[in-house]
Amino acid sequence: MIIGGRTWPRDRPWVAGIALAAAAAAAWYGWEWSAGGRLPGGSSRPGFVCGVVGGLIILFELLLWPRRRVRSWRLGSAQAWLRAHVWLGLLALPLVLMHARLLVIGGLLNVALMAVFLVVIASGVWGLWLQQFLPGMILDEVPGETIREQIDHVAAREAAEVGRLVRAVCEPAGGADDEGDDAGSEFAVVTGFRAMTGIQGRVVETLPVYAVIPGTREISRRFREEIRPFLLAGRRGGSPLAGRRQAEGFFAALRAGCPADAAGVIDRLERACEQRRQFDLQARLHDRLHRWLLVHVPLSFALGVLLAVHVPVALWYW
Ligand code: HEM
Repeated sequence: MIIGGRTWPRDRPWVAGIALAAAAAAAWYGWEWSAGGRLPGGSSRPGFVCGVVGGLIILFELLLWPRRRVRSWRLGSAQAWLRAHVWLGLLALPLVLMHARLLVIGGLLNVALMAVFLVVIASGVWGLWLQQFLPGMILDEVPGETIREQIDHVAAREAAEVGRLVRAVCEPAGGADDEGDDAGSEFAVVTGFRAMTGIQGRVVETLPVYAVIPGTREISRRFREEIRPFLLAGRRGGSPLAGRRQAEGFFAALRAGCPADAAGVIDRLERACEQRRQFDLQARLHDRLHRWLLVHVPLSFALGVLLAVHVPVALWYW
């Protein structure tokens, strides 16, 4: 959790501070409203101060971007920056609303500015919510987690490994794919181990002894046609193995059609598919964790540009 939970003692002063600042601004705004008899806008005293502070907060919010990228800017911890970013960003909302006459505004630039601002705030709140809970969900639901960028690589390695097992212990289904990287090896199961001894009679190596499992041609065929493509492409390939229920049915049918000796190989294939499903889920959660930034960050920059136009234009017409 970024905010709340165990970090609550560090958030508490921020919450108290922004609540106090927002309440003071609202009280001033309310007083001016009742004294003047109409909604104060950006040129009223409280509206102007709210606008200046809100604008400065927006500038500070934008600084998070270079802070992340410029090494010499590593002033304060990343956590402290994020905490200030979140709480000050939330404080900006009431301040900017009061500056903007509680949204009773006109003019294309003003409306665009407010719309972009509100989307930036809403996307920030949404992103914060995701960052609070999704990482825990990834840990809970994806025990076999790997680095997002390495998923395809790890999946290809796993597909090659189970492929070697299938070629080693199952009868070939026929077809080009049976000529794998260890083509020509026996199609066999490990039935025991043979000790290799050195000159002085000491065991230097233990070699597996293989035997073919008869009646396993179907496993080789299913591996080549369905399991391997799924392990390599995951749910992108549209395989029915991407669904847990369908995969259970698939492997139950395979088990029923194969000798009992093949159960271990089928279990291994099923585990590989389960791991691939977990990688897919992890990729989905990971992408969801970062996709909101595609709205938040570009619109933040648009907000910066609109603000840079708004300030001189508003001062000019004041
Ligand atoms: C006008 C207000 C705001 C502006 C201009 C703004 C701008 C930005 C910028 C430029 C980034 C940097 C992204 C990066 O480094 O790639 C960012 C990240 C972020 N913002 Fe905002 N933001 C605003 C308000 C908010 C609010 C109100 C919240 C939450 C309540 C929020 C939550 C976040 C979070 C969680 C991140 C990403 C942190 C991370 O991925 O580590 N922002 N924002």
